[in-house]
Amino acid sequence: MVHHVGDSNCINIAIDGPAGAGKSTVARKVAEQIGYVYIDTGSMYRAVTLIAQRAGVTADQTAKLAELVRSLELELEPGEQGQSVFVNGENVTALIRTREVTLQVSHFAANETVREVLGIMQRKLAERKGVVMDGRDIGSHVLPNAELKIFLTASVKERALRRYREVTDSQTVSLAQLEAEIAERDRLDEQRDISPLICASDAVVLDSTAMTIDEVIYAIVKLSRTKMAEAK
Ligand code: DC
Repeated sequence: MVHHVGDSNCINIAIDGPAGAGKSTVARKVAEQIGYVYIDTGSMYRAVTLIAQRAGVTADQTAKLAELVRSLELELEPGEQGQSVFVNGENVTALIRTREVTLQVSHFAANETVREVLGIMQRKLAERKGVVMDGRDIGSHVLPNAELKIFLTASVKERALRRYREVTDSQTVSLAQLEAEIAERDRLDEQRDISPLICASDAVVLDSTAMTIDEVIYAIVKLSRTKMAEAK
């Protein structure tokens, strides 16, 4: 399922940070440049949310949610256009990006069993090294031994603006509304009891507010090459 390319798959790279900081674009491009596999863990929480919504299971129905997540067959497939997500054989890559899922995902991501099951899957995916994994708790919790940890952040205003430009849903949403939603998602991700969004003590903090995507990618690729050389 996960294909490794190149011959320097000797480290793992964790990229954490708040919503809209540019993690997925940056992580995907970094992986591409160094021949690593990109794993978007947010997509896994989104897939659980979509399936729960379809089944009419809410985030507070702990027992039902646990059953649902344990029976889920989740597959991530790296591809040219980024990562595709399959649940029980169905391609849900586009469906997990709707606002309906986005607005609810923090609540499902706060569930202990959901985090436990997805955390186990994530560690398994990183077992052979050579992955660039983005999320909220990768450096602090899922892969505490990752050789390179990046905490990528940007101001709420800048992150809202970036999301505003990329909203693909047909319904219109104002910039102010997006800003409020991002601030609320930060709050929920930072304040949940289990694996909250925190910066690992050994992470490199990159504030991308005034940086271009290419500058961020360049900085991370450079750090990666240094870590790879050290690990050889
Ligand atoms: O990065 P994203 O917007 O696709 O993430 C979706 C949600 O999943 C977000 O609210 C935070 C949560 N998440 C998490 O709690 N832990 C992760 N490792 C990745 C995402």
